[in-house]
Amino acid sequence: MKEITITAPDDWHLHFRDNDLLAETVPATARCFKRAVAMPNLVPPVINAEMALAYRTRIKAAVPEGQSFEPIMTLYLTNETSQQDIIEAKDANILAAKLYPAGATTNSDKAVNAISTLYPVFKTMSDQGMLLLIHGEVTESHVDIFDREKQFIDDYLIEITQRFPDLKIVFEHITTADAADFVLAGSENIAATITPQHLLLNRNDLLVGGIRPHNYCLPVLKRDTHQKRLCEVAVSGNNKFFLGTDSAPHTREAKESNCGCAGCYSAWGAIELYAQIFDDLGALNKLEGFASHFGADFYGLDRNNEELTLVKDAWLMPELIELSNKQKIVPFHAGQSLAWQVKVK
Ligand code: NCD
Ligand code: ZN
Repeated sequence: MKEITITAPDDWHLHFRDNDLLAETVPATARCFKRAVAMPNLVPPVINAEMALAYRTRIKAAVPEGQSFEPIMTLYLTNETSQQDIIEAKDANILAAKLYPAGATTNSDKAVNAISTLYPVFKTMSDQGMLLLIHGEVTESHVDIFDREKQFIDDYLIEITQRFPDLKIVFEHITTADAADFVLAGSENIAATITPQHLLLNRNDLLVGGIRPHNYCLPVLKRDTHQKRLCEVAVSGNNKFFLGTDSAPHTREAKESNCGCAGCYSAWGAIELYAQIFDDLGALNKLEGFASHFGADFYGLDRNNEELTLVKDAWLMPELIELSNKQKIVPFHAGQSLAWQVKVK
């Protein structure tokens, strides 16, 4: 049996959702992560400091007794976001704001449809030292869904990075070699998160032998050459790439539907899956940087003091998670074996 001890990790991108669901999602993440960046795409979205602080209180109330866990709050940018909103958010210790192009993903209909109109807001964010988190996909209907991330780089990201060289940007959940190479070639102010599903899977896992709705997330899984490039940069030890699960629960009915929702609920096996990926790639010694150091460094926060031990001891992800209201969620990797588990102290 193998064991590895690392600085306690953080999740730099996930979706807790709200209200009753917090009793499921917050403990599932707090069991292995000390902090997590809470995405603001609630209904209605988290658009100002007051809403973010109230949401933070609801998340904190769901942290199990005796555990230390800190949500990192974010603001949802809309066409109406003002420079004043940013200043107030920064004063309230909200570290980042999220840019969703309108219509790009789950609950993004209130988001931004003319990115350049937000340039004054980006300027204020840059001055205030607030991070810009980007869902990098164009939404024009004529653009093929597999090309939307690359097109976003060409149409928007190149210009944003050139205009705002001091703005810290996280290119979230990257899915292509193009995105990995863009981040690599960029300044020290651009970094990226990578999910377990984009390291483990490619589009064959979505479409061959039948449609697999539980592997459907956005940005959509790409071809295997992209998956391989993401794996290369994730295990490279380069501090521009760090952990962000994008854990995003939807009910079973919402996923297994005529028009299924995008999002994989990976919290139950998050750090374990990354350990498996790094182990399979012969790079377990690079897991700690990716999972526990680089994200905190990029956000300008201290690294965690605690440690987490993982043991190589196989277990099965349940087929189904049942919520107290009887709704069911199919977790990512349901019914499959995971090689690593968190050692309980
Ligand atoms: C996320 C969700 O369900 O909120 N879905 C997803 O497929 N990743 C939204 C997002 O991060 O795009
Ligand atoms: Zn997300």
